Amino acid sequence: MTSSTQEPSVSVDWDVYWRGVQGNGEHQNGGPEETALSEFWESVFGQSLAGVGRNRLLDLACGNGAVTGHAMKIMPSAQYYCVDSSFSATQELQKRYPQSTCAAADVLQTPFISGSFHYVCSQFGIEYAGWEAVGEALRLLAPQGTLALVLHMHCGAIYKECDQSVRAIDAIKETSVLPLASAAFSAGFALNAGSGSVADFKAAEKSFTPAVRGLEAIMREMGPNVATGLPQQLYRDISYMYRNMSAYDAKEVASWVEGMAKELDAFRGRMSSMLDAALDGSTLSKVIDLVTAQGVSIMRQDTLTMGSNQEPFAWALVCKRD
Ligand SMILES: C[S@@+](CC[C@H](N)C(=O)[O-])C[C@H]1O[C@@H](n2cnc3c(N)ncnc32)[C@H](O)[C@@H]1O
Repeated sequence: MTSSTQEPSVSVDWDVYWRGVQGNGEHQNGGPEETALSEFWESVFGQSLAGVGRNRLLDLACGNGAVTGHAMKIMPSAQYYCVDSSFSATQELQKRYPQSTCAAADVLQTPFISGSFHYVCSQFGIEYAGWEAVGEALRLLAPQGTLALVLHMHCGAIYKECDQSVRAIDAIKETSVLPLASAAFSAGFALNAGSGSVADFKAAEKSFTPAVRGLEAIMREMGPNVATGLPQQLYRDISYMYRNMSAYDAKEVASWVEGMAKELDAFRGRMSSMLDAALDGSTLSKVIDLVTAQGVSIMRQDTLTMGSNQEPFAWALVCKRD
């Protein structure tokens, strides 16, 4: 059952995302599908086969259950608990894995008693609350329990992609393409309705054209798939609606502009939250110090890599309480 006793106070942008994902989207199958990630989780949970009875797993900042999905393949009869500040994410996870228990809560304040989990896991999640959130993960770890974390890496491959996405969204905003599109559509509708002038429409179109050229330049310079293709989608929608203006009315266009503006803002918010969450080497050392200060041993500490050039994209950490 999804518990929603606590309204998510943070991660509004993430909640917008998970709401949008419901039914479709790149995360529908549960997080990025990098081989290095599945290999990492297989190695963590594969070792569990010897641990009969050690079966309570907590997935922190679970999203729609990427880590839970990996674990369930190897430990189908374990008990799964999942926490995310986005209520929509927990709803999605609950639909995918009805046997799990989900809570919409901040990872800094989870509704569980100390030492109650044999596995405490997080993939690109816990660090959104700051590296100190590892302290809460350690609180929840049972004796002989395993803490396994995949953490965003400052200046890693994902970080660079997010950084480029933020720059693409800022460049789109600089073109003012949405307000200018809105003005051009309004002038077009007025002209069609007989209440506007050709001169006003031409003036609005004249201001709008450089913004569209600006969008084209962003796609040319940063690639068509930058920012998960948002500039391309914007360009396509605008071109289509402009060519078929008579099929739309002012309300529809206003609601499209508003929806698009919200989507751009939420996307930028998520990307910049990833940049803020990413740990550099010295912050990772603080995490290690925190872990070892509690008598928890580091079993594995390395980086995960992706692509043909094996570019690092995440820190991987596996720790065990004695
Ligand atoms: C990049 S997604 C990763 C989701 C999932 N672990 C995965 O690998 O697909 C980050 C997740 O962290 C959640 N999140 C961000 N800040 C949080 C916080 N303070 N407490 C709980 N969840 C948080 C977001 O809602 C989002 O679902």
